[in-house]
Amino acid sequence: MDHKNFETIAIRTQTERSQYQEHSVPIYLTSSYVFEDAEDMRASFSEEKERNIYSRFSNPNTSEFAEKIAKMEGADTGFAFATGMSAVFSTLAALLNSGDHIISSRSVFGSTHALFTKYFPKWNISHSYFSVTEVDKIESLITPESKILFAESPTNPGVDILDLEKLGEIAKKHNLILIIDNCFATPYLQNPIKFGADLVIHSATKLIDGQGRVLGGVTVGSAELIREIYLFSRNTGPALSPFNAWILSKSLETLPVRLDRHCENALKVAEFLEADPNTANVKYPFLKSHPQYEIAKKQMKQGGNIVSFEIKGGIEAGRKFIDAIQLCSRSANLGDTRSIVTHPASTTHSKLSDEERLETGISPGLVRISVGLEHVDDIIGDLKQALNS
Ligand SMILES: Cc1ncc(COP(=O)(O)O)c(C=O)c1O
Repeated sequence: MDHKNFETIAIRTQTERSQYQEHSVPIYLTSSYVFEDAEDMRASFSEEKERNIYSRFSNPNTSEFAEKIAKMEGADTGFAFATGMSAVFSTLAALLNSGDHIISSRSVFGSTHALFTKYFPKWNISHSYFSVTEVDKIESLITPESKILFAESPTNPGVDILDLEKLGEIAKKHNLILIIDNCFATPYLQNPIKFGADLVIHSATKLIDGQGRVLGGVTVGSAELIREIYLFSRNTGPALSPFNAWILSKSLETLPVRLDRHCENALKVAEFLEADPNTANVKYPFLKSHPQYEIAKKQMKQGGNIVSFEIKGGIEAGRKFIDAIQLCSRSANLGDTRSIVTHPASTTHSKLSDEERLETGISPGLVRISVGLEHVDDIIGDLKQALNS
């Protein structure tokens, strides 16, 4: 039976039961699989038969996880990776050739930026950036070599929103492959394929795991594009481990209920911060003051769990605030049950110049909060005492 409701897909998409009739899917910790006879082996390797051969290619747990995300995103199929970055790298590397050009939003995750600026030039793959307020300039960046249009929305750590429908129209008009890193939204809050994306990537390490335990990544999209990505990955070996896939697939069963509470808490935290005299420029997609509020409402179900704001007083005030925090964790991860505060200018983005940081939307006093599932009064209480300290 094919289910359409998100919550039911999250729970009832599962690997076929074994002869033991287990209720919960077991962990298939096996690197390889056995064959009936020589003919079975030949037919399997020539792909006349669809079956597991070796866990670098496929495994019941990783396939279940990828299939679940594909259904949630409205994609044909997908491939699961060891990390979000292996998903980003393998997806791009599988599709690009020497001489190709990528057009990307400037506000991308730091390691994705490193791929574009440090590694891809080694293979003669170039890029052009547009800023989140310059979507109208994208067409002027297109060259005959342009192949991929890449963006994240909401962005990390600026929590800016890009208009996915506009990106979809541009990609279609100019025959570009539109790839969206949907990590901050999860498939529950936003489905980029509906707006014209060809491929959707997730770091499953964040809200998909949701409990800060394992790393993982996934790319979903059309059968044709995923086939290219699968063939590249089958040879280069970035596959997700079956154990991590099992954890992540189990986590997806509770994604909707977790996300509902994350978003409810995050909106309350954002409203509290906006009213506090020590803060400025509070950014949360579902706050009316967010510069792209209307776009967020159009493409997202709720605002997600990340709130960013500036502490008045710059980099020193930012560090002081982080030192005064008692309940929330000082950590670089996000999307955990535990609330986490980060000061990008002195940590994750400290190697960039002030100018480069500002270009990516990171001011000296910017703080990013990944709002968790503790009682919201306790989260707000901690932020309040730290702001007043
Ligand atoms: C938007 C975004 N994309 C990709 C990644 C990379 O994911 P991973 O850490 O699983 O490699 C991250 C990690 O923070 C991220 O925030």
